[in-house]
Amino acid sequence: MSNIKKVIPLSEPEISGNEWKYVKECLDTGWVSSVGNYVNLFESMLAEHVGAKYAVAVVNGTSALHVSLIACGVKAEDEVIVPPLTFIAPVNAVRYCNAYPVFIDCDLETLCIDTQKVIDFLRNESTFGKDGFTYNKKTKRRIKAIIPVHIFGHPVDMDPLLEICKEYNIDIIEDATESLGSEYKGKKTGSLSKAGCFSFNGNKLITTGGGGMVVTDDESFAKKIRHLTTQAKKDPFEYDHDEIGYNYRLTNIQAAIGVAQMEKLNEFIEIKRKNAAIYKKLLSNINEIEFLWEKSWAKSNFWFYTIKTKSINKNQLMQYLLSKDIQVRPIWKLIHTLPMYKNFQTYKIDKAIEVYDRCFNIPCSVGIKQENIKYIVKQIKNYFEKHEKK
Ligand SMILES: Cc1ncc(COP(=O)(O)O)c(C=O)c1O
Repeated sequence: MSNIKKVIPLSEPEISGNEWKYVKECLDTGWVSSVGNYVNLFESMLAEHVGAKYAVAVVNGTSALHVSLIACGVKAEDEVIVPPLTFIAPVNAVRYCNAYPVFIDCDLETLCIDTQKVIDFLRNESTFGKDGFTYNKKTKRRIKAIIPVHIFGHPVDMDPLLEICKEYNIDIIEDATESLGSEYKGKKTGSLSKAGCFSFNGNKLITTGGGGMVVTDDESFAKKIRHLTTQAKKDPFEYDHDEIGYNYRLTNIQAAIGVAQMEKLNEFIEIKRKNAAIYKKLLSNINEIEFLWEKSWAKSNFWFYTIKTKSINKNQLMQYLLSKDIQVRPIWKLIHTLPMYKNFQTYKIDKAIEVYDRCFNIPCSVGIKQENIKYIVKQIKNYFEKHEKK
């Protein structure tokens, strides 16, 4: 394998379209800050793709989650249900509101929150108050919202969640930061609930360097997000602010990159799905591992590819692949085990522990070469051959 790159990266951005041209236009015209045609265009392109009425561009996915929680009325001392198996941002966003996370287990196949356990938790551990809100029996706090995270691009099983949350008057804010373009029963993730949050950081399916978006069908929610993210300035001329706001707006330069990336989005998804199928096929005869696939009701964007070991600890295999210049990444440490979250309520977490022990990610860049996929598969096979001989 002579022309293999020194290290095969986990996930590299794909900058091969009109990015330079559009950014140059911003620089040439002076429209570099948070107002400009590219911001408007990026918002409308994303809203159209997702099938949402409104989209508001923000500085990153974390801020999208933060302001969405505020806009749906999460207050200090409220509770928000979250998965323990996720990138940490949605949980931190709950704490930015001085609210409390309640951690509920994940599903072994989708890696997303276990919707049956959410149902069990609400049926057994909560009561419905006279004020029309749901309260945690143990802590007496109001359960105001849930953040289902579409992990690695695979959609959460949303129907049971939508049903139970309607019954218990709990708002759903989708963390769709990893699942741009993924579909749940034919509908795009991010468009299935009160609001969907996206991220465009460097390793996401499309990138603006750093960036995010909130999408919603609710006009007043969209207005609130726009207001909060522009320092809650209520007058276009006077410096007149009516609440504590944030400087969370995306710049026109970043949006220009976003527009160029959006032009390529469908192509990127096709490549991700095609490469996922190639990995799955090539890895299918290795009994000791499983390449995680999508459920029949899902169309994943396969943002990240996940391998699950069956009988061995993932660490040895990961170390072996790293020594072969293949960048692999362990799945996130479970959030409820981290020092700042270890005292918050958890509910029946066992499958997430298994996932943490067994799952890791392998290279998935849109631009990954076919010879590199073959090399990675060969090295995984080599590992098990050596392992068996011992
Ligand atoms: C699940 C999840 N939520 C939130 C975020 C936060 O997005 P950002 O890095 O743009 O703030 C990310 C990615 O970084 C993520 O993977």
